[in-house]
Amino acid sequence: MSVSWALPFDEKVLAGGGVRSQAADEYLKEHRVTLQKGAAFWESVASELDWFEKWHAALDSSNPPFHKWFVGGKLNASYLCVDRQLALGRADKPAIVWEGEMWAPGLPSESRVLTYGELSREVNRAAKLLRDVYGIARGDTVGFYLPMIPEFPILMLAAARIGAKFTVVFSGFSAESLAERLEDAGARLLVTADGGMRRGAVIPLKETADKAVAAAPSVRSVIVVRRTGLQVPMKPGRDAFYEDVMSQIPDDAVVDPARMSSEDPLFILHTSGTTGRPKGQVHDTGGYLTLLHATMKWVFDISERDMYWCTADIGWITGHSYVVFGPLLEGATTLMYEGALDFPQPDKWASVIERHGVSVLYTSPTAIRSFMKNGEAWVAKHRTSSVRIMHSVGEPINPEAFRWMHRLVGRSSVPFGSTWWMTETGGIMISVLPGGTMVAMKPGSNGFPIPGVDIEVVDDSGRRSEALQRGLLVIRRPWPGMPLTIHNDPGRYKEVYWSRFPGFFYAGDYAVRDEDGYIWVLGRADEVIKVAGHRLGTYELESALVQHPAVAEAAVVGVPDEVRGEVPVGFVILKTGVERSESLKEALIRLVREKVGPVASLKDVIFVSRLPKTRSAKIMRRVVRAVLVGKPVGDISTIEDEASVEEVRGAYLELQQEVSSRKAGDQEDNGGSPPT
Ligand code: WT7
Repeated sequence: MSVSWALPFDEKVLAGGGVRSQAADEYLKEHRVTLQKGAAFWESVASELDWFEKWHAALDSSNPPFHKWFVGGKLNASYLCVDRQLALGRADKPAIVWEGEMWAPGLPSESRVLTYGELSREVNRAAKLLRDVYGIARGDTVGFYLPMIPEFPILMLAAARIGAKFTVVFSGFSAESLAERLEDAGARLLVTADGGMRRGAVIPLKETADKAVAAAPSVRSVIVVRRTGLQVPMKPGRDAFYEDVMSQIPDDAVVDPARMSSEDPLFILHTSGTTGRPKGQVHDTGGYLTLLHATMKWVFDISERDMYWCTADIGWITGHSYVVFGPLLEGATTLMYEGALDFPQPDKWASVIERHGVSVLYTSPTAIRSFMKNGEAWVAKHRTSSVRIMHSVGEPINPEAFRWMHRLVGRSSVPFGSTWWMTETGGIMISVLPGGTMVAMKPGSNGFPIPGVDIEVVDDSGRRSEALQRGLLVIRRPWPGMPLTIHNDPGRYKEVYWSRFPGFFYAGDYAVRDEDGYIWVLGRADEVIKVAGHRLGTYELESALVQHPAVAEAAVVGVPDEVRGEVPVGFVILKTGVERSESLKEALIRLVREKVGPVASLKDVIFVSRLPKTRSAKIMRRVVRAVLVGKPVGDISTIEDEASVEEVRGAYLELQQEVSSRKAGDQEDNGGSPPT
């Protein structure tokens, strides 16, 4: 199967359309009106939430780019997701439907349902535990390193209830990455699990957490949720099992939700970039929840009758916003699935849709490409016609994957979009809007900026670029859900996002606006790699490689992959006298997994004797990447040693030959890594 994923911006789709969509014009007109209203537009959205106290200023822009939304307003995320739902009569309605990975036909069901009433009970109890047993106070930070189990959202809501911020680290990160993030966020308490289930195997999370905590002195206590039954060492005075400490908390415990200011941080979530350490994005409470409320309505057309399934892990922003806070804020049922979408059989995901009657589905291009690869017979085994709206997120979606999913699950008729946003934006920024003015869909495109959000594709000088010209994506004014800052580093926040085009937020993505105004995000303009939609910084991977005593220099580059979009490949220059060998290659791949985490597995290591560099000795990853994807290398007048380009090309071709001969020898191609 060949998938032209590398060209999400498919000229044929664009040029072939030709018909200017009526609804698109209509939408753009409406959109302009929302922008004219300015912050007042967002006030009308925010007022649909239940605030303890109304704000006195919709937007405080007195100290840009540190904008504050709904200043003076008081609210609480846990109150809105739980107490308010009870007040609206949803006590007996399922809030969370959880399914474990181990379920298969013939096995006992591995599922849990928590009604809003039960969720309220558990959140109150957990809040009491954090506050009264662990002494967590307003403003403190709690860290989470957890698998996809119901305790995860319960504890996030509990932290929010008492005004503590939380910081989640994805369970695919290593001890070192975990420690770095916990320490940066200043977490006092870490909640983890004995292990997590992944493709039938137990991931030893507690073991990793122990190593991390040893290197993160801010963490004084560890709570361990039992999930797998794995025997784990417990450090007296520091560690306790969740069920043990919770057994002291009565069922009718009540903890009043803290009256949080709109601009109080709700959480810190780290993102990776090309340089430097991970950036702790600090998100506020009022702006963030307002954006989630808006997008749940407009993008997902959510109602309390929906069985809503977002397949993301809570470890990433998509899980924060659209597994936990978004759907619960709207009183919907959020389905949490623990494991791999194709385990134990490739139809797991379709069977989840059928058995739970999923009506709204939010997934990723990588997942869809892996479904495609497994073949449509697996989908046909299940009734998926309960699905009425679908969206994808995380990376550009190739038109083939879009069409396949739309035909098979969307019955060629349901709304289906590719929502663009990023950790920094808090929630969806560009989409088609089944819950608003729905425009014609163009496979592979993202659609339009949502109401009230001012997004543009600009040229190098910050001017709106011409239609069909590749430009850079910017957000031209503050929006609710934007970061408050980078934790511990406001200067960097200003520098990274607001300095390239003063007054505009620079997203770091290439994009195109077509003649009808549709936006097509093409991919990162920096050296960030999206592996299965997960954002990895080359910096962390390269720093891991150069820690090996045999390595002199390293550059990590993303190369196209049929299913995962991109995968990281390391180019390594060895120290003089060191022999190249298979075992050294393997050791380097292992080292990166160990240092950064399994999420950052290098697909390969290629030894070279030189790399394209500028005369100031900066590695030109852009050139390496161009060589790998067989594109012209562009302007290399600043290159120091042109022969290096040929060497990279040669080394890569050699590797490809090796891979294809390996493949020919294989009877069975299992498709490589699992989707996540
Ligand atoms: C980057 C942000 C926030 C959702 C999960 C990713 C890429 C995301 C799309 C899309 C094209 C997309 C961008 C962006 N991206 N969604 N629908 N079409 N590209 O969050 O890990 O912070 O990554 O993901 O390159 O900059 P993230």
